[in-house]
Amino acid sequence: MVDDRFLDDKLNERRSQDAFRRLRLPEGKTDFCSNDYLGIATNGLLEEGEWSGAEDAARSGAPLAHGSTGSRLLAGNYPLIEETERALAVFHQAEAGLLFNSGYDANLGVLSCIPQRGDIILYDSLSHASLRDGIRLSFGTAFSFAHNDVADLEKRLAAAQEKGAQRQDKGAQRNIFVVTESVFSMDGDLAPLDEIVALCQRYSAQLILDEAHGTGVIGPAGEGLAQARGLQGECFARIHTFGKAVGCHGAIVLGSSRLRNYLINFSRSFIYTTALPPASVRAIARAYELFPQLHDQRRRLQQLINRFQQAAIGYARLQSSTPIQVVIVPGNAEVRALAERLQQAGLDIRPILYPTVPKGSERLRIVVHSFNTTDEIDRLTALMQKKPAQP
Ligand SMILES: Cc1ncc(COP(=O)(O)O)c(C=O)c1O
Repeated sequence: MVDDRFLDDKLNERRSQDAFRRLRLPEGKTDFCSNDYLGIATNGLLEEGEWSGAEDAARSGAPLAHGSTGSRLLAGNYPLIEETERALAVFHQAEAGLLFNSGYDANLGVLSCIPQRGDIILYDSLSHASLRDGIRLSFGTAFSFAHNDVADLEKRLAAAQEKGAQRQDKGAQRNIFVVTESVFSMDGDLAPLDEIVALCQRYSAQLILDEAHGTGVIGPAGEGLAQARGLQGECFARIHTFGKAVGCHGAIVLGSSRLRNYLINFSRSFIYTTALPPASVRAIARAYELFPQLHDQRRRLQQLINRFQQAAIGYARLQSSTPIQVVIVPGNAEVRALAERLQQAGLDIRPILYPTVPKGSERLRIVVHSFNTTDEIDRLTALMQKKPAQP
């Protein structure tokens, strides 16, 4: 009989902080929670209609199997996966791309293997856990800069450059990496990309940009923030994930062919795992044929976002032009109570608790979708007119 009661110490700590997490099954409520911004997964758009790549896939001998049978470096590589990488690289105007099994794997895989001892990583303080975990695994020395604060980034770049110059005096090679996201997952705001790129140029730093929440949503065809600003050529690596607006699962790292070769050789979350199966890759390829065309959905999404931003509510709200809308309700118990009230009204909205976000900035993370209705937005904002009565 296994005695695992030692796990209770940490679990009870979570309970005492009102931060115990549990899994919930969907209950058919109005979706203000999923990352399916354009409704590709919810509305089963990938199951509908003809796919022009299907014939190619059949021709290239790729049965749409649910197992890839091995790592990409062994039995798990197949024509459809490489064709899809090339097609996505063309769409995103990159020289090359490499698929990973998830955005988490991609971020972990890039950051853990590229920065070397003596290199410096400067990352936005609100960077996603997958970026931070990759940074923790790397040999580089990491410092965070204040969220979206280009003055702070510049200060740190200047210090990093000075340190690098000292190392170079001793003949050591050094690189500086700047890590940020196009849309921040817990705040919904955009990185000041033009300014960050200008700083990277000035200080010869390599920019790594996570486009997880920009993919499918930002830019006329959903290309992401870098392309929308014409800055794709200035990014050392861009990571686009498929689990959000793309309605699938997986991710691609875009950059040079040299970067692709490097990752194939050194990225452990690419090498030591079973490749994505053909069925998943086909879905990704199909989604990339579909989402660039979803202009009406992107327009509608923007209208609903504006409606939410303009409605009067009784709580502080972060400025955001993206589907991620944030209402600050300090305190785990308080934010849970408001989320519960909204849940009881049939709206699926989840609280984001400490320690996921800093104490005092606990929040509701409200995700707007192209398939939400104006009535749903109005019902939501009406329910947030007043703070609940204090007990
Ligand atoms: C900014 C950001 N990067 C990366 C990821 C990880 O992507 P995936 O869900 O594909 O693992 C997420 C999703 O949680 C995210 O929000």
